Amino acid sequence: MQTNRPVQPARAHGTAAVTAEISAGLLAAEAHTSPKFLYDSLGSRLFEAICELPEYYPTRTEAAIFDAHGAAMADDIGTGAALIDLGAGNCAKAARLFPLLQPAQYVPVDISCDFLTESVTRLQQRFKHIEMTPLGLDFSGGFALPDSVRTSRRLFFYPGSSIGNFSPEQAIAFLRGLRANAGADGGLLIGVDLVKDSAVLDAAYDDAIGVTAAFNLNMLRHLNHLVGADFDVRDWQHRAFFNAEAKRIEMHLEARSAVTVRWSDGSAPRARHFERGECIHTEDSYKYTRQSFVGLLEQAGFATNRVWTDDNGWFAVIHARVIPD
Ligand code: AVI
Repeated sequence: MQTNRPVQPARAHGTAAVTAEISAGLLAAEAHTSPKFLYDSLGSRLFEAICELPEYYPTRTEAAIFDAHGAAMADDIGTGAALIDLGAGNCAKAARLFPLLQPAQYVPVDISCDFLTESVTRLQQRFKHIEMTPLGLDFSGGFALPDSVRTSRRLFFYPGSSIGNFSPEQAIAFLRGLRANAGADGGLLIGVDLVKDSAVLDAAYDDAIGVTAAFNLNMLRHLNHLVGADFDVRDWQHRAFFNAEAKRIEMHLEARSAVTVRWSDGSAPRARHFERGECIHTEDSYKYTRQSFVGLLEQAGFATNRVWTDDNGWFAVIHARVIPD
């Protein structure tokens, strides 16, 4: 399985800040929650299952692009980079590029330190000559790489189109943070999901056997755990659709009947009544055209070097370099 862990704006820790964030979202005029709450341990496994669904094209399409164009990517990027793998998880996606890219250093970054250490220990036995520097950190809210990361030829690797789970404004801020850490000769290799026929998109986020529905509904169990809410999963149903104007898939949970949900925000008991059909907005997944993403990269200080796509033009892998000051 080749899923890089998606890392969205931040991760849940069950802290006072998380409780306040969930409470504010549930009480907002249009109730919403951050997509980071989709990923408790069951949610992460459901996401891995999504990546195997026939309807969910991004994972296999991106993998096919790496298979077909890995050598061209290595030509464009050059060997000997410090490869910084964001949300590395089991490190499988980056490892497949090692024989071509031959990085001098591999820096997998993931919030789950234990998982990362296990993956890297195994990988180091296979690739003894590559210096490996695992970092357990949450890179999504801004970060500074430690001195142990080589300063020359830093290449950020951010596959899986996780960038789509940021709003375009958040994406620019995130990419600017990468640029600030990249150095003058740094770059970025990123996977981006492209705008396409809405029927393909709708099916990818509302699959026939209901894995994505389970992934979305599981967030309610996670919220019950995090803030002691009393969501009954059976009161809710999965909704996902492509919003063509905003160029994003929206995921929502819709109340099947009128229901009142109660929870605690630490200082006080809270409640919200939902009428039948009212929704909680749980995730956006932005889709880009090649041109719009190249423009977004430029706003963040990166110049696009090359773009590789599949035959359908459904997904793009982009190599970009830092625009010098
Ligand atoms: C992690 N991320 C890129 C996925 C996506 O396609 O936006 C999350 C996902 N949500 C529903 N299915 C997959």
